[in-house]
Amino acid sequence: MCDVLGLIVWIFPGIGTVGIVWLIASYAIVFAVREMWCGRFWPVHQDDGYFDEGIAARYDDDSAEMFDPAILEPVIDFLGEMAGNDRVLELGIGTGRVALPLARRGVQIHGIDLSEAMVAKLRSKPGGGEIDVTIGDFATASVDGPFALAYLVFNTIGNLTTQDAQVACFRNVAAHLQPGGRFVIEVEVPQLRRLPPGEIYRVFESRDGYWGIDEFDVANQGLISHHLSLVDGDLERFSMPFRYVWPAELDLMARLAGMELHERWADGTESRSRARATSMCRCGRRWRSPLHRFVRTR
Ligand SMILES: C[S@@+](CC[C@H](N)C(=O)[O-])C[C@H]1O[C@@H](n2cnc3c(N)ncnc32)[C@H](O)[C@@H]1O
Repeated sequence: MCDVLGLIVWIFPGIGTVGIVWLIASYAIVFAVREMWCGRFWPVHQDDGYFDEGIAARYDDDSAEMFDPAILEPVIDFLGEMAGNDRVLELGIGTGRVALPLARRGVQIHGIDLSEAMVAKLRSKPGGGEIDVTIGDFATASVDGPFALAYLVFNTIGNLTTQDAQVACFRNVAAHLQPGGRFVIEVEVPQLRRLPPGEIYRVFESRDGYWGIDEFDVANQGLISHHLSLVDGDLERFSMPFRYVWPAELDLMARLAGMELHERWADGTESRSRARATSMCRCGRRWRSPLHRFVRTR
């Protein structure tokens, strides 16, 4: 320290003690402002992850199929029936595709989401301002509970790209559920049977001006979904990483967290009274992801 002060005096002869104090104080102010700006002392802006403003702006249009009442209403019926009069927790609430129609049926929902941009979109919709949302990571965020039901739909568990994070998510959900509370997950069964031996790419959608390609990292249970679109003649690419997860692994993660599998429907809500298989089912134009329902047991 003395060496540094000596150096300052040598560089700026005649600076004196007051000058040195002033120099240090100005450095401290610049440092503090910079740290605050970066969100070290308090958050200035949360990192929106992969769902930034650009994605949030076109999320509803890009996912129009998932807003189709034929797809959405059975899910709302199913969750609404399970919620009854109790409070529910949605992990990854996004722009409110599920939460808003559920809230319109009188269900009280608390959402968690990492992306301020997605939540701003939710807030801009009628009724969106009345839903409580915590900005944070649903694997770790803590909110006031307990809840009778928590749900995580549209393959969003895969946005947690490590096994540790997915296990933490199950534990976090269990910590927010009342005893006997339920956790519903909608996630597709990994489509590895569609991958020819030795290949790592699979085209999951191809239409005029858009190509969706999944890139598999089989050894690490990783998947990157590449979306390639023609925009004004230019090819634009957006890629998002996932960790795909098997039904058996979901069951095990649930057990680690003090939950157990209660029911599983192969094709979402389509034939929940009869299906118990774990494959995908083609319903109309699209594939439905299975629903898994876990119950907190301890
Ligand atoms: C595919 S969207 C689903 C949104 C909504 N649930 C729906 O069904 O339309 C995934 C959402 O989860 C959020 N998300 C992804 N990973 C998250 C994490 N670790 N913690 C909190 N939110 C996360 C994203 O910001 C995004 O809003």
